[in-house]
Amino acid sequence: MTSLSRRSVLKGAAALGGTTLLSRPSFADSGLPALRAAPATAQLAPAGYPSTPVWAYATEAEGMVPGPEIRLMAGERVRYRLVNDLPQPTAVHWHGIRIENAMDGAAPLTQAPVPPGEGFDYDFVAPDPGTYWYHSHNRSTEQVARGLAGPLIVEDREPWLGEAGAATRELVLVLDDWLLDRDAGIIEDRWDDLHAASHAGRMGNTVTVNGAAYPELDIQPGERVRLRIINTVTDRIMPLSLPHLSPRLIALDGHPVTPRKIETLVLGPAQRADVVIDGRTDQEARASLLLDPGNGEWAEIAGFIHSGDPLISLSSDVRPLPAWGTLLAPALSNAQRETLLMEGGAMRGMREARFDGKTMGFRELAANGMVWAFNGAANNMDEPMFRAVLGRTVRLEMTNRSMFPHAIHLHGHHFTVLSQSGAANMEGDVRDTVLIGADETVEIAFVADNSGQWMIHCHMLSHQKSGMMAWFEVA
Ligand code: C2O
Ligand code: CU
Repeated sequence: MTSLSRRSVLKGAAALGGTTLLSRPSFADSGLPALRAAPATAQLAPAGYPSTPVWAYATEAEGMVPGPEIRLMAGERVRYRLVNDLPQPTAVHWHGIRIENAMDGAAPLTQAPVPPGEGFDYDFVAPDPGTYWYHSHNRSTEQVARGLAGPLIVEDREPWLGEAGAATRELVLVLDDWLLDRDAGIIEDRWDDLHAASHAGRMGNTVTVNGAAYPELDIQPGERVRLRIINTVTDRIMPLSLPHLSPRLIALDGHPVTPRKIETLVLGPAQRADVVIDGRTDQEARASLLLDPGNGEWAEIAGFIHSGDPLISLSSDVRPLPAWGTLLAPALSNAQRETLLMEGGAMRGMREARFDGKTMGFRELAANGMVWAFNGAANNMDEPMFRAVLGRTVRLEMTNRSMFPHAIHLHGHHFTVLSQSGAANMEGDVRDTVLIGADETVEIAFVADNSGQWMIHCHMLSHQKSGMMAWFEVA
């Protein structure tokens, strides 16, 4: 299909007498299928508003927002050639996949960003089942805000859907938050807004579910559905609730948890949750996915329309997901201890921090776009925050001495949350991104079993860009 549309493009260009520049072929020498990043349009705002110019991923001719769903079985390979048809360099990060370092897409640490008109071959195994996503990892405050993110679903090794107590169907819900003007265009002049960066980050004004505002989803009465919910925003923490649908949490960041009832679910940027819901049994009933936009007033962001024949006699117990069986348990008694101190931001600030090899005061840091620091250094890419010997357990105590929550993400590893701190984390949860509230301390542990140089950063992309970025080395 791609080559066909390519040919009609060629014909069109010829008819214009060669005045149009031809874009490069989507299939390059490597023979891998293309994942193309290019400008596109999407109907993000409700009907009646114009469509929005976005940047989008495409595996077929047309780019879409969110990007096309990539789905495979645990243990299979993901193979794509990123083709960059954007006006600036880019790279793709496969968030949460315990991947080999060279495929991590963490520009500029694990690869150079791919210039416009060029490509990069990604070819790696996805070892663990679960709900993941992929997104731009270069100039990501801008590129993710423009739409470069999509779902990556790794299916369970053993059957779960359709088994007793499990769901009969699944729905992937990609949540996003857009800052749009009155004509539904993305407001472009605020990528470097230091005011937003020193607060909670760049907040949008339009929340979408699978690229649409207020979509209506069909569900059968009594039907048990697995929701794979992915928060792909740049900065917004999403408190969610699913009233009347008896939600049970079954996985966090792809990793199974013992099914537990939840009232609300808080998803920080980049976090995922798998939730089982039971459709209402009263015919014609309605239900909603609600979001608290920050004022405590729950707003509907998607509706569930019940239609069709009622499905009866659900067992109330939810079947747990099959265990990963691929993650080493941390050895806490002999762990390497490390600390991460987060400082900066509005209302607390920091007196000084190291940046670019120099110690700078608050004003000089801000003049360089830095308002946050990890362990006294802003955006320190010169040396690792720590080094771990391959196979060693690392115990990392993370303290947030600022007035804002942060979503700390480790590349290449999943970790166990050792201490409950605040409402968002339970002791024993295994995650790749953890929310740490103002003045909270969260301790995590993981086996450093993946060699390479791995980023550790805040996934509020405004914070990442303005200082909350570092890396650690496993060798
Ligand atoms: Cu999802 Cu370094 O990021
Ligand atoms: Cu942050």
